[in-house]
Amino acid sequence: MPTKSADPGGGGDRAVAPLEDGTRVLLRPAGHDDGPAILDGFARCSADTRYFRFLSGGYQLTDERLHALTEADHRDHAVWLALDLDAPGAPVAALARFVRSTTVPHVAEVAFIVADAYQGRGLGRLLLDALRVSAAVDGVTTFVAQVLAENEPMKALLFHRGAHAVGRSGPELRIQLALDAPALPPVPPHLGWALRAEAEAATRPA
Ligand SMILES: CC(C)(COP(=O)(O)OP(=O)(O)OC[C@H]1O[C@@H](n2cnc3c(N)ncnc32)[C@H](O)[C@@H]1OP(=O)(O)O)[C@@H](O)C(=O)NCCC(=O)NCCS
Repeated sequence: MPTKSADPGGGGDRAVAPLEDGTRVLLRPAGHDDGPAILDGFARCSADTRYFRFLSGGYQLTDERLHALTEADHRDHAVWLALDLDAPGAPVAALARFVRSTTVPHVAEVAFIVADAYQGRGLGRLLLDALRVSAAVDGVTTFVAQVLAENEPMKALLFHRGAHAVGRSGPELRIQLALDAPALPPVPPHLGWALRAEAEAATRPA
């Protein structure tokens, strides 16, 4: 279980990748010590961003919910953080997670939240790569997501990579992405290796 902090120097063999504007982000699994950093990142998400993520207004990151994120087993519940290495203190810019289905174990539900200042800069794509690597380590072959039909960035992220809608409930779409979809580009090898090492180190035995 990682208890790593950000490496403000960034680099080495860690999973560091550039956003579209060159900003360097570190991708790593969330660990025990990340509660304050996650809370800080959440505080920098607007009401709209929270609404698109949680599909309701007024969502609160309670101690119990925070604990679930920092104590994830990275096997049935994977949680990745993206840290901005070019900002003072390397703040959390985004979080993405998957939760394995209790009934269909090769399926996991994914969710992303990118702080407003980082949206539309390629971070969602990087987080999807991180989740895909965890999925490969953990035997997950299909992602599903509950997405507001008006959420164009999330739909683009998934539909442009071979996902399709499998249901609709009011304003929400149920979207499914098979991780062997031909439209899904391979994770770049240098990033994939670093992500895989992080994912394997974080995964708790069953
Ligand atoms: C949805 C979200 C995760 C996408 O992450 P992001 O970092 O903003 O998106 P990216 O820059 O990686 O772009 C992802 C795709 O969306 C497209 N996109 C980005 N902004 C867009 C916009 N305003 N309108 C339409 N498409 C857009 C990009 O072109 C890209 O598609 P492509 O790679 O096929 O070209 C992020 O915006 C977010 O957290 N939003 C609020 C919370 C939320 O909606 N969570 C999803 C619920 S599970």
